[in-house]
Amino acid sequence: MDRINFLKDLNRKYFNGELSTNFLTRLQQLPVDRPDVFSFVERMFNFVRLSGIPAKDLSLFHADVMGTLLARILPGGWGGKIPPITVQGRHAIIDTYIGNNPYLKSNGKTMLDIGCGFPPFTTIEVSNYLKNWKVVGADPSLPAYLVYDEDGNYATFDDTKSIVYFQPAIPSIDNWNSLLSDVSATKKRFEQLLNEFLINPKTEGFPRLEIDPIKSYETEFLSFKNGGIGEIEIEEKDVIRCFNVMYYFDNNFQDKALNWFSQKTVEGGIVMVGGDWAHSTECYYHLFQKESGELRKKEFSFSIDCISPFAIVTWYTNFGDDWQKLDLVKYIKIIRSNEEFMDEFNAFHDSQRARNKLCPRDSQGYYGDIDHTLSPIELWSKIRAMHDELIEAGFVQKVVKVLQLSGIKARVNEVNHIAIEL
Ligand SMILES: C[S@@+](CC[C@H](N)C(=O)[O-])C[C@H]1O[C@@H](n2cnc3c(N)ncnc32)[C@H](O)[C@@H]1O
Repeated sequence: MDRINFLKDLNRKYFNGELSTNFLTRLQQLPVDRPDVFSFVERMFNFVRLSGIPAKDLSLFHADVMGTLLARILPGGWGGKIPPITVQGRHAIIDTYIGNNPYLKSNGKTMLDIGCGFPPFTTIEVSNYLKNWKVVGADPSLPAYLVYDEDGNYATFDDTKSIVYFQPAIPSIDNWNSLLSDVSATKKRFEQLLNEFLINPKTEGFPRLEIDPIKSYETEFLSFKNGGIGEIEIEEKDVIRCFNVMYYFDNNFQDKALNWFSQKTVEGGIVMVGGDWAHSTECYYHLFQKESGELRKKEFSFSIDCISPFAIVTWYTNFGDDWQKLDLVKYIKIIRSNEEFMDEFNAFHDSQRARNKLCPRDSQGYYGDIDHTLSPIELWSKIRAMHDELIEAGFVQKVVKVLQLSGIKARVNEVNHIAIEL
C-alpha cells in the first residue's frame, strides 16, 4: 500500500490537512503488507474526529504506537487470532468498583471474568482483591504449554504444539522489535526450547517449561475454564466482567454475547463490559443489571483521561460502528465542545505534560513525545499520577457539570469515573 498517499488522504479527510509533518513522518512506519493496520488507523482517526479532538492533540507517541505497536497487537499479526494480551494492574479500579458497587443487589459472591487472557494477571488480581469470592476465569486460548526463554520472554503453545502467541518480558516497543525483527527465528527458538524441555524438563527459573500452566494459578477461590462466550458450561454468577474483548467483535456478536451474559447472571447481579489500558487509564464500560429476568443497561462510565488520552484504547476497535465506542466519542464530543471547560482543562493538563516531560506541546502547539528513558512501568505510573491529579483538582466534577448542562444525567461514581445514567 502507498503510505504517503494514504496518510495524505487521511490527513485531508479527518484533520483538514492539519497533522504535523513530524507526526506523518513517524506514521510512515506503518507496515505496507498489513492492510488491517491501515484500516485500523483510519477507523481510529474517524473516532478522533467524531470526538472533536484536533490534530494538535495527537502526540508523536500516538504516531509511534499506531505506526509500530499496533501491527503487533492486532489479530492480523497472529494469524487472525485475538492475542491474549493482558497487563498487570490494568483493571484495579474496576476491581474496586465491583467490590463497592451501588447496583449489585444479589446475595452471592461469584464472578466470571470472561476472555481473561493469559497469563491471567487481571483475574488473579480480582480474586486477590475480592476476598472470599469464587472467581472463574475463562478464555478460548488458554495454552497447553508455556515456554520462557532465558530473558523471561514467553511463548504459548496449543495442544498440537503450535505456537499461539509470544511476548517480551517487558513489552516496550524496543523489546517487541527485538522479538519481531525475525518472527520465524523467534518461533523456531521457542519451538526448540519446547522440544528440549519435553525431553529434559526444566520447570524453575529462566528458561523453563510449564505444562497446562493455568492449573498453577488455581486456588480454593479461583478456577479457570477453557472456552469463550457462549461456549462454556457455567452456573449463573453475581458478576460477569468482560474487558478488552468486545472491541474485537461486531455488534451482532456483542448482542449475542449480552444475551448469553443475561442467561448466566443471577437476579440482581451485574455485567460490566468495557476496556482500559495500564493502571486503569482510558477506562470505559457499560454496566448492566439483571432485573425481572432481563439484563438492563444502567450506566455508561469512563475515566477523565479519555478526553485527551495518552494511548489508543479510547479509539481501539475492529468495527467503525462499535456501539460502545460511539457512546464514548459522543460524550467526549459534548465535553470538548464546551470551550470554557476545555480552556481550563488544557491549561491544567498541558502544564502537567510539560512538567512531566510527557508529550508536552511544542512551539506550534502540537503534543510531542514521551520520555524514552522511562520503563513502561515508570511511564504508566506517571500517566496514572497525572490522571489522579486531574481528579484531585476537581476536573471529574467539572465534566459532570458540563454534561448536566447538556441535559445528561451524569454523576461522579464510586471510583471517580464520569458515570452517565442510562
Ligand atoms: C486482549 S485479551 C484481554 C484479556 C483480559 N480480559 C484483560 O483485559 O487483561 C482478549 C482475550 O479475549 C479472548 N477471546 C477471544 N475470543 C473470545 C470469545 N469468543 N469469548 C471470550 N474471550 C475471547 C482472547 O483469547 C484473549 O485472551
